[in-house]
Amino acid sequence: MKSDSTPDPSPFARRNFLKALGGFSAGFAALPSMVSAQSGSGGNRPSGATYMGGFAAPKLDKVKVAIIGVGARGPTHLSHAAAAEGTEFVGICDLYDDACQRWKKKVLDTDGERHKNVKTYSGDKYAYRKMLAETKPDAVWIATPWEWHAPMAIDCMNAGAHAFVEVPMATSLEDLWKIIDTSESTKRHCMMIENVNYGRDELMFLNMCRQGVFGELLHGEAAYIHELRGQMNEYERGRGTGSWRTLHWANENGNLYPTHGLGPVAQYMNLARTEDNFRRLVSFSSPARNHELYAKEVIGPDSKSAKLDFSKGGDMSTSIIKTTLGRTIMVQWDESSPRPYSRHNLIQGTRGTGAGFPNRLALDYTYKTATPELRKLLNLPEDKPGQHSNYHSWIEGGGYNAFYEVFDHPLFKRMESIASKHGGHGGMDAIMNFRAIECLREGLPLDQNVYEGAFWSAVTPLSRKSVAEDGMPQDFPDFTRGNWKTTKPLEVVS
Ligand SMILES: NC(=O)c1ccc[n+]([C@@H]2O[C@H](COP(=O)([O-])OP(=O)(O)OC[C@H]3O[C@@H](n4cnc5c(N)ncnc54)[C@H](O)[C@@H]3O)[C@@H](O)[C@H]2O)c1
Repeated sequence: MKSDSTPDPSPFARRNFLKALGGFSAGFAALPSMVSAQSGSGGNRPSGATYMGGFAAPKLDKVKVAIIGVGARGPTHLSHAAAAEGTEFVGICDLYDDACQRWKKKVLDTDGERHKNVKTYSGDKYAYRKMLAETKPDAVWIATPWEWHAPMAIDCMNAGAHAFVEVPMATSLEDLWKIIDTSESTKRHCMMIENVNYGRDELMFLNMCRQGVFGELLHGEAAYIHELRGQMNEYERGRGTGSWRTLHWANENGNLYPTHGLGPVAQYMNLARTEDNFRRLVSFSSPARNHELYAKEVIGPDSKSAKLDFSKGGDMSTSIIKTTLGRTIMVQWDESSPRPYSRHNLIQGTRGTGAGFPNRLALDYTYKTATPELRKLLNLPEDKPGQHSNYHSWIEGGGYNAFYEVFDHPLFKRMESIASKHGGHGGMDAIMNFRAIECLREGLPLDQNVYEGAFWSAVTPLSRKSVAEDGMPQDFPDFTRGNWKTTKPLEVVS
């Protein structure tokens, strides 16, 4: 596999972001990633640095937790980290003090005695650095706008804390390399907290892949198709997700949010874990129409949103990834078209296909090739010569649900009650956060290593470049510097 480790030479997004920020907020004049201490290399691993695939940090009996960003997303992580056994909440940071106070109350209501020393930091975009220095957390959850993920994760690791950073891990190859270099030199985890990998159906498909139910895996499909144009109202108000996400829609053209769909498919295929790896991608975008239409028709012709030029973007982005083994993965992104939500979640092999939205399966088995459980599920009660299970129709509804009884992932079964009690996207968030804290307390490797976060996130800068070059293929850098060949596949942890 060719390893192109050159940092992104034309940081397209950053240039456009700078332009956009010019008219956005004086307070953000300095781009955060420009102040990161280390430069992303991709050259040889520096001496003293440690490969972090499979890395287990020393056990922490008590995990001192802090969070940066308590807008729409952060409070879910905050609630879980406050409730999980063996934590002490020490710091909450946000630009806004009202958000800090509101969520501090939630932490104290959860367990005022255990978290009695929690402090808040706000009012300044670098207040989080003060929090890191004063509260010395062991682990920091980061739920801020995309461009802040890299500098915050790097600062956390340099301050001695493990970083649990929202998706995507970073938006440029250069910043992804900086995160890897910092994780390797500080021996601190940086996990991109891809919650979808903890969804019940994603965990079940992973379990089925590990048991070979789909046969040899050849193709996957992933997506983030989620109509979010209403967030432009937050751009009007200047606060909330849309206040910054709208500018990405207006100024970038590529696959801007690839990891929710791709993370699970990548783990089904063991990408970057011995068996196979990301090799290259091509990407194309449709014309951009939906944001402009919505801004003018719904938000209002005189609105700030209507004055943005969305024509540089693309409403539907389609990337095709080719892996080292030659498997293919289609990854789509569309946050503006009027259609139902989908992450595709499709995995296809020589014995069949599992897919999401809606959940369905198609499997090709005979009495002889099926296990006793599969014979029951696929209605193959006796050995009739030439009889195959019906793979021309999808198994859906009750037929699909019957597969949970046999193939539900052991981690899901163990944590099902945590998922239903603490919730978050149907419970996947709770399983992810409680499991992450458990790994820290028990000194276990995390389920998603820093390289996986980097590969999954790299689709954004690579797709932007491919689109800008009219679909030219772009090679993935080998973020592991060759070590993926000996990195163990993620076990079916129980
Ligand atoms: N995994 C998921 O299911 C999921 C769901 C929603 C959002 N997200 C991700 O979570 C992140 C946050 O999204 P959101 O919707 O909560 O956005 P948001 O704008 O509602 O919240 C971000 C918060 O970060 C704060 N912030 C910004 N800069 C800061 C700084 N320098 N210091 C301290 N605080 C700062 C803001 O004040 C805001 O409260 C994004 O990366 C998004 O992609 C993930």
